[in-house]
Amino acid sequence: MENLSAKIEAADSLESLEQVRVEVFGKKGALAAEFAKLKDVPGPEKKAFAAGLNTQKADLQALFDRRHAELAEAALEAQLKAEAIDVTLYAQASERGALHPVMETMDAIIDYFVAMNFAVETGPMVEDDFHNFEALNLPKFHPARDMQDTFYFGDGSLLRTHTSPVQIRTMLAQKPPIRIIAPGTVFRRDYDLTHTPMFHQVEGLVVEEEGKVSFANLKYILTDFLHHMFGDVDVRFRPSFFPFTEPSAEVDISCIFCEGEGCRVCSHTGWLEVLGSGVVDPNVFKAVGYEGVSGYAFGLGVERFAMLMHKIPDLRSLFEGDIRLLEQFK
Ligand code: DAH
Repeated sequence: MENLSAKIEAADSLESLEQVRVEVFGKKGALAAEFAKLKDVPGPEKKAFAAGLNTQKADLQALFDRRHAELAEAALEAQLKAEAIDVTLYAQASERGALHPVMETMDAIIDYFVAMNFAVETGPMVEDDFHNFEALNLPKFHPARDMQDTFYFGDGSLLRTHTSPVQIRTMLAQKPPIRIIAPGTVFRRDYDLTHTPMFHQVEGLVVEEEGKVSFANLKYILTDFLHHMFGDVDVRFRPSFFPFTEPSAEVDISCIFCEGEGCRVCSHTGWLEVLGSGVVDPNVFKAVGYEGVSGYAFGLGVERFAMLMHKIPDLRSLFEGDIRLLEQFK
């Protein structure tokens, strides 16, 4: 019996304890063998023998239960330890993306005009001669077509060189009054510090019944827009030429780098050109079959705005996809 206690104590896992249980308490176990001897014990001693055996059995059972509890607890602890997650472990934060500065600038421009009750229109990037040139008063052999180096496809279609064709598409699809901006991607064969073959423009067009809008409305809204985008700058309208507007004006702001003193960025003029604009040319209305209307239009390059607002010196860097540059604009 001594060695049975020792066996129970020595079991070092629930599995080995289970083996010991069978050996000690099982049908063919050590205790059963002892109880079997009862029948050979002489009558008067039977009672004391049985009582002794029962006491030993109870002691062994108590010992077994204690050992079982110990081993079960150890096993649970080992399992918990093995499955534990260390929540104090340093986890690498996931990277957050951000809008590209050109798209962010585009959004800011759109937000201004939407607040001014302009609707947003879009058109295809692959255009035809009619919408991109002809209807905008740029007939086939007009010298102004040389100003825009165009990507042509073999079939005569082309990558739009400006967002102005959306003016034509909108006027053909809708009736006046019209009050739209057309943000979009445009293409020209150009590549240097301030030009990339793909860039973005926002076009604007307002058409009302004859006499209801004039150059004064154009001047007001563009001045307000430029103050909204660039803060307290001077704005000037400089006579210019566009085939689709008459009169036409280019719009300058006082240089935001030197505050009008004159520097390298503004070519020592104190001014930065930021917009083209004008009163819609009657020939444009004729091309879309409009009569008895007047309107104004404007167009701007989004990259130029982004460069000025973020003081980016080389436009090309915006499209190289270098994450180190883009991260600066988060
Ligand atoms: N389409 C012109 C360009 O790409 C920009 C422009 C100038 C648009 C004057 C206009 C405008 O609507 O009135 O350079």
